[in-house]
Amino acid sequence: MHTRTKLELSDFGRKLGGPTGIGELMHDLGAALAINPQLLMMGGGNPARIPAMEAVWRQRMSDLLAQGDAFERMLAHYDQPCGSPDFIAALVQCLNRRFGWHLTARNVCVTNGSQNSFFYLFNLLAGRTGARHRKILLPLSPEYIGYAEQGLADDLFVSCRPLIEDQDARTFKYRIDFDALPLGEDLAAICVSRPTNPTGNVLTDAEMRHLSALAKERGLFFLVDGAYGAPFPDIIFSDVEPFWDEHIILTLSLSKLGLPGTRNGIVIAREDVIETLGAINAVVSLANGNLGQALVAPLLRNGELLRLGREVIRPFYEQRARQAMGWLHEALDGRVDYRLHAAEGALFLWLWLPGLQGTSQELYRRLKERNLLAVSGHHFFYGLHDPDWRHQHECLRLTYSQPEPIVRAGIQILADELAGR
Ligand SMILES: Cc1ncc(COP(=O)(O)O)c(C=O)c1O
Repeated sequence: MHTRTKLELSDFGRKLGGPTGIGELMHDLGAALAINPQLLMMGGGNPARIPAMEAVWRQRMSDLLAQGDAFERMLAHYDQPCGSPDFIAALVQCLNRRFGWHLTARNVCVTNGSQNSFFYLFNLLAGRTGARHRKILLPLSPEYIGYAEQGLADDLFVSCRPLIEDQDARTFKYRIDFDALPLGEDLAAICVSRPTNPTGNVLTDAEMRHLSALAKERGLFFLVDGAYGAPFPDIIFSDVEPFWDEHIILTLSLSKLGLPGTRNGIVIAREDVIETLGAINAVVSLANGNLGQALVAPLLRNGELLRLGREVIRPFYEQRARQAMGWLHEALDGRVDYRLHAAEGALFLWLWLPGLQGTSQELYRRLKERNLLAVSGHHFFYGLHDPDWRHQHECLRLTYSQPEPIVRAGIQILADELAGR
């Protein structure tokens, strides 16, 4: 007799293999971009297709194909677990030249995407450590949905409510409440995304220095997620300096340069952290995808990547942000009580709907029935343990990276839904 093997999931399988916010988001994103063209994608953080950047990648690909057997060598070889030596040398040279840092190749590990980097970093720093349970402090909540389920140990994140600063009648900005930070917990690291996904907040240089000093005083690492930030892709609408120090772990990504399909993230950190990451990479992945590294390396070497960020990518998104905000104000003003977070970078608008009927997750479902994908804000408030804070269920994240007609039509559907039409 044949009995069907029962899938009895381990704790790991249950935690990562069950329903998650990031899983729902990526599922929606894939459906909208690859399967169902009716769906208007204002959900996940897929970067825009920027013609000038696509031309650069096409040219790089044909250069690679024309360059002897460079293409075959790239396809046929596993790289070292920390990444391609040529790419790492080009990155180190570029960062040292631009910022006066003193990095060597031993300060860099490439991964299969920043999502991967954070899975490794959170779990190598925090969780069960002998008899202790160490945590990651997120000083500003809401914070990136993609971290929420990455801890192998439960309860990996701790956070606190932000301060809400009014900038004008329709614009607000979250600020870190430094007096309320739960620094007493058994912490391993402080972590921020800059610009912040989901809000488009850019922590100021002063806030960053303050956090860095707090971390250093307490012997903690300071994780800075620059997936959208400086020095590339530079989707920050003001000039801020990236900085690096022994206790800072700076992560970058090739995705928002327009290369999410190549799956490459970069970690810049102290040598012992990098060695550990390389060892984990070998166990989990053997090596990294090397196409993205091969496409990007020459543009790091000649400084072109930083120029493209500053002169092409940043202005593209800044113009898109302003346009989408204009459309939102036009569609919502006088019809709905709403506020927008200051759009200082990244690809998102963060809409706060004070007094929203029902929850943002219910609104997400109703919008999806009308073929509009957004992301319910509640997913971004993990680590808070603050069930009475209604604000967590009154926000929506909208991505404005897709073509203009999609964004415009999506905003109209949102406005109609909120106005009960
Ligand atoms: C803040 C942040 N960090 C990390 C990632 C992961 O990016 P990737 O794995 O594509 O490098 C994302 C993706 O959108 C993100 O928004």
